[in-house]
Amino acid sequence: MEKLYEGKAKVLYPEGKDTLRVYFKDEATAFNAQKRGVIPGKGAVNNQVSARLFAFLEAHGVPTHFVRTLSEREMEVLKVEIIPLEVILRYRVAGSFAKRYGLPEGKPLDPPLLEFSLKDDALGDPLICENAALALGIVDGKTLEEVKRLALRTGELLRGFFQERGLELVDFKLEFGKKDGQVLLADEISPDTMRLWDVNTGERMDKDRFRRDLGGVEEAYQEVLRRVLKG
Ligand SMILES: Nc1ncnc2c1ncn2[C@@H]1O[C@H](COP(=O)(O)OP(=O)(O)O)[C@@H](O)[C@H]1O
Ligand SMILES: [Mg+2]
Repeated sequence: MEKLYEGKAKVLYPEGKDTLRVYFKDEATAFNAQKRGVIPGKGAVNNQVSARLFAFLEAHGVPTHFVRTLSEREMEVLKVEIIPLEVILRYRVAGSFAKRYGLPEGKPLDPPLLEFSLKDDALGDPLICENAALALGIVDGKTLEEVKRLALRTGELLRGFFQERGLELVDFKLEFGKKDGQVLLADEISPDTMRLWDVNTGERMDKDRFRRDLGGVEEAYQEVLRRVLKG
C-alpha cells in the first residue's frame, strides 16, 4: 500500500474509508531533528503505550482517534484534520522550558502550565500564544476552548494513571484534530512525547535518555511499556 505521509516517527497508510493505518518506527530524532538515531523496539513500545492510553482516555470521556490495534507496531485511527498546534502541559520545570527561563529542572508548576507551539518543523515549532493562534486563524475560539478542556482533562487522567505505576508525568505534548466538527485527541502518547520520572529514583524514563545520552534507552522504553500494561 502506498504511503500517505512519512514523518519522523511514524508512517501513515490508507486503511478504511475514514481511517488510516499508523506504523510506528524505531527512528528517533531530537532537537528539531538535528540529532538522529535508532532506538530498537521503540516503535512497538510507542504503538502499544499509545493504544493503552487512548483506550483508557476514551473510557474516561476523552474522545480520541484510536480505532484498534492492528499489529505490534501498527494501529488503525480515524483520519482527522490535524490542528497545527502542539499542545503542551507542564507540571514541573523541565526541558525547553527550563532552558528558556534559565531554571534548573524540577520546580513544580502549580497550576500546571498549558502552552502551545506552532507545528512547523521549518520554523522549529515556535511557541505561539493563544491570541496569535486565533488572530492568524489557525484555530477558532470554540475549538481552542475544547482543545484546552480536553488537554487539561487528559493531564488529570494520565497523572493518576502513571502515579499508580510509580511514574510521575512531568510534562507532555498532544496533537488534536477535527473530524465532522468534533475535536479528537490524535497522534501518539508515548515516551517520545511525555516526560516520565520514576517516583522512587527520579530516573528519566523517556526520550530524555536519548536526547542526553544517558544510556539505557531501550530498557527505559520497555520498562514504561511493562508498567503501562500492568493492571
Ligand atoms: N488521526 C490522524 N489523522 C491524520 N493525521 C494524523 C493523525 N494522527 C497523527 N497525524 C499526523 O501524522 C503525522 C505522524 O507522523 P510523525 O512521524 O509523528 O510526524 P512528524 O514528523 O510530523 O511529527 C504527524 O504529522 C501527525 O500530525
Ligand atoms: Mg510527530
